[in-house]
Parts: sequence; structure tokens; C-alpha cells
Amino acid sequence: MSVLVLGGAGYIGSHAVYQLIDRGEEVVVIDNLQTGHKEALHSRATFYHGDIRDADFLHDVFTKEAIDAVIHFAANSLVGESMDKPLDYFDNNVYGTQVLLQTMVDHQVKHVVFSSTAATYGEPESVPITEMMRTEPTSTYGETKLTMEKLMKWTARAHGISYVSLRYFNVAGARENAEIGEDHQPETHLVPIILQAALGQRDQVTIFGDDYDTPDGTCIRDYVHIEDLIEAHLLALNYLRTGGSSDIFNLGSNQGFSVKEMIETARTVTGKEIPAVIGERRAGDPSTLIASSEKAKQILGWNPERTSINRIITDAWNWHSKNPNGYRKVVKK
Ligand code: UFG
Repeated sequence: MSVLVLGGAGYIGSHAVYQLIDRGEEVVVIDNLQTGHKEALHSRATFYHGDIRDADFLHDVFTKEAIDAVIHFAANSLVGESMDKPLDYFDNNVYGTQVLLQTMVDHQVKHVVFSSTAATYGEPESVPITEMMRTEPTSTYGETKLTMEKLMKWTARAHGISYVSLRYFNVAGARENAEIGEDHQPETHLVPIILQAALGQRDQVTIFGDDYDTPDGTCIRDYVHIEDLIEAHLLALNYLRTGGSSDIFNLGSNQGFSVKEMIETARTVTGKEIPAVIGERRAGDPSTLIASSEKAKQILGWNPERTSINRIITDAWNWHSKNPNGYRKVVKK
């Protein structure tokens, strides 16, 4: 039987495919290559180029392949963009998931691991955030992910499907040997932006506000290493295959670091100056997001071993310094 990875050419999806293949799983990938990279595809995965909103296409893949579980990463995921293009986000994220679930029901595929987000919580009541806390997204992106979770909940109940939804905090880092890594166009995430400045590809990092209610005034986030994050997906897959019931888990480190602390650590890791200036606040940024991941540790047995900001930045730097242009080939004149 195969695991179907939707969005397996993206940053997080490609790391999942590599780890699944490391563990001896047969892997089928679907990606529309809108934000994913064909260079990030694993040579041993069976790849179908297409869009999950295309019901006939999905039906064909589920007919050809013996799929027993799905890991669903295929979604748009930028908070800022989602505020400008809400209908695009509902179409790709929510409608895409509806088509997927209908196809799973039709083909009697019973398990799905789902990529969700801390953005489902919105402004937290308090930190660390537990899965029991109120969900009041402050962005269209968070709202679509929360809606996708609800689609799963009701479909699972009606059709005997079990799902695990994993709410990620701030994912960063890269596979240790730098085979694959993070490459977004345009880049908006803090860690790659800092490392682009270290490489001289940007003049400076702009810190979005230093007047937050935090010790150094800059926003605090909870960073999790991509490889630890993927381990949780493999544990979730095993949990579902062995009869675990549908559930939701946070994935973070139970620790928060400020933007200034991230830049300082990157200066130490890279040995580069990394100029930084203070800019305006970015709309929609909560001041502090820190996860409680106790539930994932207790129920899934998750043990995030690589999740320190030093290790995250070291592995990310390994990828960025070896691949300064990401997956883009540089055409020599
Ligand atoms: N930041 C800067 N300068 C930059 C980029 C980011 O100061 O150039 C700051 C942001 O204001 C924020 C922090 O660095 O305080 C992290 O920003 P990111 O854009 O890297 O990540 P976000 O916290 O905005 O969002 C990420 C994911 C979302 C997810 C969220 C959950 O991109 O999909 O984590 O915590 F929902």
C-alpha cells in the first residue's frame, strides 16, 4: 500500500516524502507545482502533476494506486496574501479538501494526516497554547485551515474516516544533508530572510516592530525543526493505522524566541554581520505565540530532538549557503 502525499513538492511536503521513503514507505505525490519545486521531488516517489480540485484527476490517481492513507499539505499558506485573496484561499484550501474527502469516501481510503496551523487560534488567551483553547482566526488563511478541520471532522464521523490534524507553529530548518530545503518565491518567512541577508542577497533584515509587550519589544514565536515536525506526521500515520481515533495536536517547542534573538543566533551561527533595522509592525502579527506540545508527546510519543534555534538555523544555513539560489538553476552567460 502507498501513502499519498498532497503537496509533496513543497517545503514541508518534500521533507515528509524523504522521511517516508527513508522508512521504507511506498509514496505517491500529487502537486500542482504552483509553489512547489519539481527539483524537490524524490526520485523514488511516483509523481502526478495536477490539482486536488480536479475530481476526475484525483479519481484517476486513487484508481491507479493502492493508497491506504493521505498526508495533506496541498494548500496556500501565506497569512498576508490570504487577506488580499480570500476567495482564492477558500477555493484552493477548502474546496480542494472537499474534493479530496469525497474521493477518499468513494475509494474507501480511511486515514488522513492534515497540515494545520497555529493561525487557527488567532490572538491567544494565554501562552502556552493548548489544543483546548478557543479558535478565533484573525486571518483568512487561519479560517480556511479551521474550516478544513471541520470538513474532516464531520466527514470522518459520517464515513468512518480517521484523521489527525497537526497545528504547526513556526517551521524552519532543512534536511541535515541539505538535499532539500526552504525556497519560497517571494520569501516572507523570518529564518530564510535572515539567511538571505547573511548571504548578502538582501541589504538588511527589517524587524517588524519593537514596541510589542515582550522583553525586547519584538515578536516572540515558537520555532520547530522541519525534521522533527515531519517525525510527528509519521507517528500520526502509525497512530491512525493502529486504530487511533481522530484528534488535533499542536507542534511546537514550548519555548519562544524574539525576532532579535533569532537574528543574534544567526549572527553567531553564520559568523556574518546581518544588518537589521526596525520597521513598522506587520498587520495581523500577534505579539507572542508559544505552543504547548504536551499532548503530541503523550499521545503520539513525539520527541522533538532537533528543535533548538541553534540547530534550526545551522541546518537552514547549510541549505542556504550551499543553494544560494534555492532550486533555481543559475544560467551561466
Ligand atoms: N518578521 C520580521 N521581519 C521579516 C519577517 C518576519 O520581523 O522580514 C517577524 C514577524 O513579524 C513575526 C516573526 O518574524 O513576528 C515570524 O514571522 P514569519 O513570517 O516567519 O512567520 P509567522 O509567525 O507570521 O507565520 C508562520 C507561518 C504561518 C503560521 C504561523 C503560526 O508562516 O503559516 O507561523 O505561528 F500560521
